[in-house]
Amino acid sequence: SQTAKKNGDGALEIGGVDLRDLVAEHGSPAYVLDEDDFRARARAFKHAFKDFDVYYAGKAFLCTTVVRWVMEEGLNLDICSGGELAVALRAGADPKRLGFHGNNKSESELARALDAGIGRIIVDSQHEITRLIALAAERGVVAPVMIRVTAGVEAHTHEYIATAHEDQKFGFSITSGAAFEAVARVNEAPELELLGLHSHIGSQIFDSSGFEVAAKRVIALHARVSEELGVDMPELDLGGGFGIAYTTQDDPSDPAQLATEMGKIVEHECHEHDIEVPKVSIEPGRAIVGPAVCTVYSVGTVKEVELDAGAARTYVSVDGGISDNIRAALYDADYSCTLANRYSGTPPTLARVVGKHCEAGDIVVKDEFLPGDVQPGDLVAVPGTGAYCRSMASNYNHVPRPPVIAVKDGRTRVVVRRETEDDLLALDMGVDE
Ligand code: LLP
Repeated sequence: SQTAKKNGDGALEIGGVDLRDLVAEHGSPAYVLDEDDFRARARAFKHAFKDFDVYYAGKAFLCTTVVRWVMEEGLNLDICSGGELAVALRAGADPKRLGFHGNNKSESELARALDAGIGRIIVDSQHEITRLIALAAERGVVAPVMIRVTAGVEAHTHEYIATAHEDQKFGFSITSGAAFEAVARVNEAPELELLGLHSHIGSQIFDSSGFEVAAKRVIALHARVSEELGVDMPELDLGGGFGIAYTTQDDPSDPAQLATEMGKIVEHECHEHDIEVPKVSIEPGRAIVGPAVCTVYSVGTVKEVELDAGAARTYVSVDGGISDNIRAALYDADYSCTLANRYSGTPPTLARVVGKHCEAGDIVVKDEFLPGDVQPGDLVAVPGTGAYCRSMASNYNHVPRPPVIAVKDGRTRVVVRRETEDDLLALDMGVDE
């Protein structure tokens, strides 16, 4: 995060808080959320994309405090489940500023969204359209709808998080004609208001040519709808997916540059097709919250393992792991880390930071040079864990999930408390005596 720095003792400070003090007070592991950093990134997107609406993608990380920050910074919110809707409403978000995603929203989720007066529902299948028509009719309301389309783009990212090629579960295919059919159906249904098209090509993307190709195809469809159905859809959403730097090898996305590029493409394509420029929106999640969080762990054990050819690797075991960050195991994601509680002059050795779970793939940081004298009791901080870590955390091995501690101006505030063993046992119905 932008406020992170090492202090005179060599300890890491974030938001003016020494991580040693944070751990002394709140324990470890903990997700440390830098409020100023989060707000600055949200604001940077809002400022750069001033002619666009910016929806923060809550799936990256959501809690009521973050909903509040997002709303205060003038962003809207993208949610994708009844649970995320509940968090947004609990935080007092204006339902008009919510967009509801998902390829299999349940009837009850859709009903709750309509009852709340949601701003837009992004539909993803014919079954959903049928369901939504019925629910809106029952309520005598008109549901605001966007249509998720598949632009047929091969985004250069991990297979599991690419979403615009044909052979995956999201969206209506443009190429097959399914997207046009869905648009025509929504347009004809008096229970639905057709807002526009939605395209999201994937996540952790650096190469903007994917967005360009997708925008071209989606705008071509938008123009066809205008020409053949005589409707000018007022909106267009180009999704999220902007990459962040997890290690020094990555080059983070720059909101200002993205905004200029995307604005130009949209202008140009709309001009080519001779259509009015719709109100465009984007949905960054990772790029806002990812860099704003670091996870601080305590080291429990250190072990040297001999590799081939006389080389060695130091395994540093910390008090969390795959349950608080599944990304290395699931996507082969790279992270970096740093010794966070002291200065060390000992030469670095090749280390692998692993968790405490019963699984060999329980890796937090695959390869990092850490001082050779790392020992039990030391703190290790892993930056860039704001996105898809707490939100994908599990209770594997009945390990309670860490808290989220916001830091700002030298103060800490628990925004999500640490889970306890009692929390876990609360769901267990017990044994018959
Ligand atoms: N909009 C839609 C429709 C999405 O599906 C997503 C992410 C976003 C926006 C936000 O994407 P972002 O800007 O955060 O990249 N768990 C994976 C990422 C899954 C992304 C799912 N959809 C990971 O840890 O890398």
